[in-house]
Amino acid sequence: MLRILLINGPNLNRLGKREPEVYGNATLDMLEQDVTAFAKGHGIEISCFQSNHEGDIIDMLHDAEPTFSGIVINPGAFTHYSYAIRDAIASISIPTVEVHISNVHAREEFRHLSVIAPVAVGQIIGLGFYGYNLAVLALLDYIGGRK
Ligand code: DQA
Repeated sequence: MLRILLINGPNLNRLGKREPEVYGNATLDMLEQDVTAFAKGHGIEISCFQSNHEGDIIDMLHDAEPTFSGIVINPGAFTHYSYAIRDAIASISIPTVEVHISNVHAREEFRHLSVIAPVAVGQIIGLGFYGYNLAVLALLDYIGGRK
């Protein structure tokens, strides 16, 4: 069975409480359950990880090989400045899709830049939680095409 690692970065454990006008009312638990069920329907097993700590996310990325065939990551605010997470993704050879719940381009200027994007297969932005499902489908297609 194909295994995908789902990583949510800082403050995403606050989903449901955090700025509901931007991120909605659903919790991280609900998000993880939804993606897990969606992926299962496509024969994919998801492992979910959330951390508010840059180093823990980096360790998780390093340890993802060889267990996982793909990674879905929402790096939260680390997206905009963490060269360390970018380098960690570049240091492994697992295709990685970057997801953002909100449309970062319609928000503050500092959110417009992603230092992660150049090392990701692609980005899915502004489509809410559904973006995570799309990221799973994108990885499925990408990995299938690479075989
Ligand atoms: C976010 C967008 C980031 O700018 C922000 O810091 C987050 C969440 C999103 O999913 O829309 O924490 O990654």
